[in-house]
Amino acid sequence: EKIEKVSFTWQTPSNIALVKYWGKSDPQLPKNASISFTLNNCHTRTTIGFSKQESKACADFDLFFEGKEKEEFKPKIADFFKRVQIYCPYVLDYKMIISSTNSFPHSSGIASSASGLSAIAMCLMSLEQALNPSLTAAFIIKKASFLARLGSGSASRSIEGPLVVWGEHPAIVGSSDVFGIQFPYKVHAVFENYQDAILLVDKGEKQVSSTLGHNLMHDHPYAENRFVQANENVSKMSEILQKGALKAFVNLVESEALALHAMMLTSTPYFILMKPNTLEIIQKIWEFRVAENSNICFTLDAGANVHILYPFNEKEKINRFIESELAQYCQNKQYILDVVGHGAKKG
Ligand code: PMV
Repeated sequence: EKIEKVSFTWQTPSNIALVKYWGKSDPQLPKNASISFTLNNCHTRTTIGFSKQESKACADFDLFFEGKEKEEFKPKIADFFKRVQIYCPYVLDYKMIISSTNSFPHSSGIASSASGLSAIAMCLMSLEQALNPSLTAAFIIKKASFLARLGSGSASRSIEGPLVVWGEHPAIVGSSDVFGIQFPYKVHAVFENYQDAILLVDKGEKQVSSTLGHNLMHDHPYAENRFVQANENVSKMSEILQKGALKAFVNLVESEALALHAMMLTSTPYFILMKPNTLEIIQKIWEFRVAENSNICFTLDAGANVHILYPFNEKEKINRFIESELAQYCQNKQYILDVVGHGAKKG
């Protein structure tokens, strides 16, 4: 099949880890399994226009972000193409015009690498399928996650939803270090339409890039224990999700967030990524949980922003609480209300 000119558009979401990935070996293989909720409203929408040209030694592309050419984002994408070109040799045969927009504010401290790279991976797979129409949908999803992983580990968890496991784990049938899979067991109804409010505490540049962060685990005194703990937590989380054990969910999710930050507090060099307002928010969440007998809980990425997770049936009460009491701790009172989603969407 010969294709001269074609373009594909995909919208792929961000995700939030319940059990965290922190530590990897080459080429982007995780030191422990992780599991995440796929988000819905926080997403990247990417169109890639492919025009056939004489084969090049490395990928040839232009990059537009929010309508403007973005030279500063190009090296990361160029690295990504270098890593995937042996799996997708056709990237060398096309000039690519990549145009992306994010649904969330740029530099909000919300990781855009997961949504950004998974969207590019889906566009590549659409071209691959156009070149080879016999590919199955299951293969396309799996390979897209495989490719996304090579760009950013957590991006492997942004293709499907609502729950994705990445990393080989004995308790998760079909799990793999090289791609994410949909959580393979029936999830209890309390986790349907689970809510995630992202409180933008600090919109500044990330203090610790994730590449640097993962490398901190190489000579980390607690690394081995952390990897064991995370894998045990994936087993526990699997049980919790199936049983609908909300109290245990709250404890495990918060413990995971703090364990991630504990790794950064105890690495060489060390980092404190939480801000005073991160702690204020956590304190308020804990008070609210007791006072309202709520199942509200928090989690954190490698930064100061707080993700607040809560069941759908507490949505109204907790959204009011966020607006009236927590928004004041956010930069410009900014927060984003999101809900678990279903992964990549075409067009
Ligand atoms: O995908 P990366 O390399 O940006 O790493 C992401 C790591 C955390 O967001 C901190 C945890 C996770 O599992 O998503």
